Amino acid sequence: MNDDGIAQFNKVSLGSDSSTSTNISELNNEKRLANNAHKPSNQLKNGLLGWYAICSSKDINDEKPYCTTIYNEPIVIYKDKESNLRCVKDLCPHRGASFIGGQVIDGELVCPYHGARYSSEGKCTNLSKITCNHIVDDNYNNYASKIHLYQYICKEIGGYIYIYYTGNAKTNLSEFNVVDTINNHLLNNYGFDIASYEYEEVVVDFKCDWARIIENHLDILHLFWVHGDTIPDNDVNRDVITSFNQEITREENQIESKYKHKDKSLGEFIRIKFLPPGRIVIYKGDPSVARYIQVLDHIPLSKNQARVIVRHYRKFMKNKFLTSLLLFRQLQHRVFYKVFAEDYMILRTQTYNNQMGYIEKDNVKLLGEDKMVQYFWDWFKSSETKDHPWELHPTNVDTNKVHEDISMLYPPANPRLEKQNKRSIYLNLAIRLLVPIGLVLIII
Ligand code: FES
Ligand SMILES: [Fe+2]
Repeated sequence: MNDDGIAQFNKVSLGSDSSTSTNISELNNEKRLANNAHKPSNQLKNGLLGWYAICSSKDINDEKPYCTTIYNEPIVIYKDKESNLRCVKDLCPHRGASFIGGQVIDGELVCPYHGARYSSEGKCTNLSKITCNHIVDDNYNNYASKIHLYQYICKEIGGYIYIYYTGNAKTNLSEFNVVDTINNHLLNNYGFDIASYEYEEVVVDFKCDWARIIENHLDILHLFWVHGDTIPDNDVNRDVITSFNQEITREENQIESKYKHKDKSLGEFIRIKFLPPGRIVIYKGDPSVARYIQVLDHIPLSKNQARVIVRHYRKFMKNKFLTSLLLFRQLQHRVFYKVFAEDYMILRTQTYNNQMGYIEKDNVKLLGEDKMVQYFWDWFKSSETKDHPWELHPTNVDTNKVHEDISMLYPPANPRLEKQNKRSIYLNLAIRLLVPIGLVLIII
């Protein structure tokens, strides 16, 4: 019985016999408390602040810091002397330069402006001078020992770099109050054994609203229509638009939607999980047997820019030599870039419509099939009110857009990598053709 039911029941009882009703009421209350103690809430417990998979392990190297932004705040990620991962607010405390263009030397972060070096605890280590001998400041040592970097907690697990983002970097990491364990975010806990899969990964940048991209990836309806000609799956094309039985469950850590074929013998078509704040996992069928699984991590770089890390886990084509020979990786990337360019066409103008307030003004009506999307927006709106992440590092019309330009690294907004990928396909094809021809010629 729900709360309303209990209230109704008590009201009726009070009218007939108040002493009995008090007992019944107490009993019901006890029962309700006991139930609530064991029953997990169906509301997502995490808001917009917390653990984000911010980049891939392969983005981090020993010499150059990895620079990016999250909710407008520039951050830098690198590895210190002991190979511990560090995530630092991108601000040198000497004169406020960014570490973009800086270096990592012997595991220390080095500012590109005057060469100040910082230990992994964020303390300045060149205590006698910054770089130039002619800088004379009697008080320098005292000064250098007082400046420090601000950091966020970060971890490297399963090839991902996660940061615990609060919008408030600290000089002492032990001051963070981590209310959500990283274990809730690890792929191994999502119903499939990643060790039995191989994966391809692409990273794409969109000049549009972060939440709109998540909405797109939760939306099964558009797959058939927008990507029907691109996704290499016979079940997904414009001609086989079909309806499914949808089953949605909401728990504290996830919203899950199963789309099952109406013909029961065909089983499950697709399953989608939303894991707040920024992860979506899409399974082709039941997770324990799915032939492929997509993991999409969404990073809100700035108000109008978002990055998506896409991993495509597969149980087939696991032979490394064969996949390399057949240019499987490049061909997969080609499909990804095409799919995201198709989405991008929709998303950037939809973002504009959103910013203009057209979508807010009750001009849109969701369908029954859009329930997952509706649940996502319900969570997003209440989390935004609670966490107000965009107000933590606000920009205005006068703010220079340097980070927006610098952080745009990947297609579809920047076609450079897509072209590189195409070139790599042509080059490798040419090599694969020329080698046997050359061998034949030598033999002749
Ligand atoms: S601003 Fe970084 S060393 Fe001067
Ligand atoms: Fe899409």
